Amino acid sequence: MNYHHAYHAGNHADVLKHLVVLAVLDALARKPAPYFVLDTHAGQGRYALASEKAGKTGEARAGILRLVRHDFTRLSQDLRRYLDAVRPHLSQDHYPGSPQLIADALRDSDRLACCELQPEPFGLLKGLLAGDHRVGIHHRDGYDAMKALLPPPEKRGLVLIDPPYEAQLAEFDLALAALRAALARWPQGIFALWYPIKQRRSLQPFLRRAATLPAKSAFVVELNVRPDDSPLRMNGSGLLILNPPWKLDQSLATTMPALSAALDEGGGGWRLEWIKREQG
Ligand SMILES: C[S@@+](CC[C@H](N)C(=O)[O-])C[C@H]1O[C@@H](n2cnc3c(N)ncnc32)[C@H](O)[C@@H]1O
Repeated sequence: MNYHHAYHAGNHADVLKHLVVLAVLDALARKPAPYFVLDTHAGQGRYALASEKAGKTGEARAGILRLVRHDFTRLSQDLRRYLDAVRPHLSQDHYPGSPQLIADALRDSDRLACCELQPEPFGLLKGLLAGDHRVGIHHRDGYDAMKALLPPPEKRGLVLIDPPYEAQLAEFDLALAALRAALARWPQGIFALWYPIKQRRSLQPFLRRAATLPAKSAFVVELNVRPDDSPLRMNGSGLLILNPPWKLDQSLATTMPALSAALDEGGGGWRLEWIKREQG
């Protein structure tokens, strides 16, 4: 396994993923009952933007660092929420990964379980969040954890699946199988699977299979910063959301035009498409 998220932290894909995750958590927090989050591929939790790895790719410069400098005429609620969550970390020259952002959002009775397979990011994540009584950090396979930790006693919550896609298309097989099994254990859970977009048409088989998952409803939200015509670059990314919270589609539809305008490198765009609707 060669993947190191430190090269990519704060890029356009992180921005989309983290903005959507926070919007889901805010929807869950509208009810007082505690919620549970499983972050299956957690990473190290927080990334130094001045590190050698971050400097090599400059991906944050075209992502979060561009977004914070953008002159928005009006900030949507989701954008404001995301920027407010990220700014305290940026002021310390760090970008927060999903475990940090989720931990910052939890209320006292909510819980987060993070899984990370590689020893180095696992150790860093433990150092960062082990003192937080609401957070469990597991050195284990995230897909296995979907069997072991679901359904949670809280009965409500989110599973974020953010794999590195080193296995390319085979990762979709793993993720879809894990989602199918997890829905059988926890049909009312909210699930968010992140995926990269190089050439969008190659995603069609995955999206067709995703629509057959036994969730009540599902949509995809995608952000492309360039045309999706090159198989060699990550031109955009998307999230498949199963059982999305009520009106999440509407709030994202308000946010995405501004997000897309801020991060566009020429010829990009965004889309939100329901692939499965709740019956009646
Ligand atoms: C894209 S990064 C995660 C980024 C993180 N979710 C965030 O938003 O900040 C993927 C991480 O998954 C880890 N990983 C790879 N395969 C895994 C597996 N089967 N189970 C758990 N972690 C895995 C990698 O070491 C890497 O740190």
